[in-house]
Amino acid sequence: MTLLVDTAAELRAALAQRAGRVAVVMTMGALHDGHRSLMAAARGLVGEAGTVVVTVFVNPLQFGPGEDFARYPRTLDADLEVCRGAGVDVVLAPAVEEVYPRPQQVTVDPGPLAAQLEGAVRPGHFGGVLTVVLKLLHLVGPDVAVFGEKDYQQLVLVRGMVADLAVPVEVVGAPTVREPDGLARSSRNRYLSPGERTSALALSRALTAGVRMAATGRESVLTAARAVLDAEPGVALDYLELRDPELGPAPERGPARLLVAARVGATRLIDNVDVLLGGA
Ligand code: PAJ
Repeated sequence: MTLLVDTAAELRAALAQRAGRVAVVMTMGALHDGHRSLMAAARGLVGEAGTVVVTVFVNPLQFGPGEDFARYPRTLDADLEVCRGAGVDVVLAPAVEEVYPRPQQVTVDPGPLAAQLEGAVRPGHFGGVLTVVLKLLHLVGPDVAVFGEKDYQQLVLVRGMVADLAVPVEVVGAPTVREPDGLARSSRNRYLSPGERTSALALSRALTAGVRMAATGRESVLTAARAVLDAEPGVALDYLELRDPELGPAPERGPARLLVAARVGATRLIDNVDVLLGGA
């Protein structure tokens, strides 16, 4: 049975009834197969005797002025169905006033990485993300938290915060879930018109084209990926970058990450993939 609560007090009461390990999956709702895979991973980590908590909260702190906070899809009934289907134990869907009872005065400084990549285009975004993630970690008190590699920079920053602030939780990354044609699942895909949906495929195709050149080195990876994006007029590129797995400068050889962000019509999409450079 899936229990729905909307306050931290109710959540604590529910968790007090349960033994075993607790895993949390934090979401902004509009749940899809990507979120489902995180719930399955969470269950795998704590077992049937453990507790899986999903949070559904559209966090105003991480949206900039002019971004889609107001029109972000809010589909709690459908989200609950997804959580029930996934065998989630508790869903915490708090109101904004529950999470932010006063205007937030103290926030997390996410450090220099938060000014790059997504952060260069969305100033303040990652401060808002890490503030709500830390707060939800305190409200839920989980043993483990599962985040998707789809938001790769977010995953790296959450890991960094947990390490730097000695937050007592294990962070687990889960692979990106895609549509059969390669498009990464995203709550924002529903904004795309059919024509934009076709244009949006250029992101995953660019990453695949880049990965195919991995043995040849960094420049070939970027050139191949960029050629795919340049050939698609419906895509306005924000960045295409090759980094190391911690999002520092890309190495000559070895593990790396290829990341892309672009606007397709009014919708901003991101994607990334791991690349083994130089075949090493
Ligand atoms: P949201 O975009 O709802 O994503 C919630 C979680 O699902 C994140 O960990 C994200 O990386 C993961 N996810 C989204 N699409 C995925 C996909 N296609 N495959 C695998 N995982 C996917 O990320 C947020 O919400 C917020 O920033 C949040 C962490 C909840 C803080 O407000």
